[in-house]
Amino acid sequence: MAEQKSIHGLWRSRWLFILAATGSAVGLGNIWKFPYITGENGGGAFVLVYLACICLIGIPVMIAEVTLGRLGRQSPINTMHALTKDQNANRLWGGIGWMGAVAGFLILSFYSVIAGWSLAYIFRMAGGAFDGATAESVGATFGNMLSSPETLLAWHTIFMVITIGIVARGVNKGLERSISIMMPLLFLILVVLLGYSMSTDGFGAGFEFLFSFDFSKLTGESIIVALGHAFFTLSLGMGAIMAYGAYMPKKSSIGKTVLTVAFLDTLIALIAGLVIFPIVFSNGLEAGAGPGLLFQTLPLAFSHMPGGTLFGTLFFILVAFAALSSAISLGEPVVAWAVESKGMSRVAAATWIGIVIWILGIGTILSFNLWSEYKLFGKTLFDTLDFLTANIMLPLGGLLIAVFVGWAMNKADVKEEVKMGSPLMYTIWRFVLMFIAPVAVAIVLVNGLI
Ligand code: PFF
Repeated sequence: MAEQKSIHGLWRSRWLFILAATGSAVGLGNIWKFPYITGENGGGAFVLVYLACICLIGIPVMIAEVTLGRLGRQSPINTMHALTKDQNANRLWGGIGWMGAVAGFLILSFYSVIAGWSLAYIFRMAGGAFDGATAESVGATFGNMLSSPETLLAWHTIFMVITIGIVARGVNKGLERSISIMMPLLFLILVVLLGYSMSTDGFGAGFEFLFSFDFSKLTGESIIVALGHAFFTLSLGMGAIMAYGAYMPKKSSIGKTVLTVAFLDTLIALIAGLVIFPIVFSNGLEAGAGPGLLFQTLPLAFSHMPGGTLFGTLFFILVAFAALSSAISLGEPVVAWAVESKGMSRVAAATWIGIVIWILGIGTILSFNLWSEYKLFGKTLFDTLDFLTANIMLPLGGLLIAVFVGWAMNKADVKEEVKMGSPLMYTIWRFVLMFIAPVAVAIVLVNGLI
């Protein structure tokens, strides 16, 4: 097909795409969700299944999603619209773009609330709120925060304003610039924290927890959680990576670039585990604390360690950076669409979309306090949104992307765009995309629904 141009600009280099896509991928999913689901699912064997899901399904689907973006060079909605036309495919495929846009709205609305917790904890940690803490006192601090809609709203508002401020400045002045500051700092803080955790008594136990494979602890449910998480952590299935692919320079090989992003995302999740579990174990605490692992177990652990205030503060700065670099990728696809199709300026588009997402976020806030009794199929609004997006919409989006690229598109167009380098790699990728990924994802989807 004819070469398209992006009206939003391009990443200045392949490395900036890698940093931006890694920024999108590395987020609350790596630092908050991965450690606690690993804790809940027994450790090493779960990690192994998760790695298999990343390699077998995540990477092939990510290559497909970036390819779509770079071919279309527009927001996911318009890219899908243009590609279905160009490829003479059924117009219903355009639904991939629309569903992704809805998923982006919903995810960002709750993601911002949780990211707000990490902002709040930077100040609590730095202000010494956890000095001499006990299990009861950290539980009470977390509980008090959740039960106060005003506190949650204030931090959600601050986080949304920063996110929208970056997206409003555009690809080069906003996204690229903020990423080039945040990502190196994120790596640096992570390495410092790894050094710190290596100096604790619990490092051996933490290492063993992550890397000793006890398959007796693995259940069918863990496999589904691992596959669902592979989509969430790589930001797949909703167009974030497609939008970033639209700004990727033409020369770069998509296969190699995606491998680098997936490698960095996985490495960072594993390092986050190697930071968190040793600190938890060296204080004799439990790994299976669930979602509270980061906001209750960890502050308690830090409060009993030398330098805990400093390293604890650094830790929550790390979480906030990771969340912010993902949040901008959740906002970008819809803002880009409003600029292209509604003739809005970036600032106006980002502001209006930001306001709608901010309002949606209030629902998540209230589901932790005033509305905590209102449940749909036994889930609060926040749990419903998390389930609907991570377990249904992202895998469904990923499945449709795999089928569209694998079955509906012209083979030669796809082959020319991915520039896989080695013919063998290309054949393997195509096979996995056409057969293995759709079947595996369909199984997860059906299980998620039941
Ligand atoms: N990958 C992000 C994380 O691991 O926290 C979450 C995410 C970002 C999911 C962007 C989906 C997305 F489009």
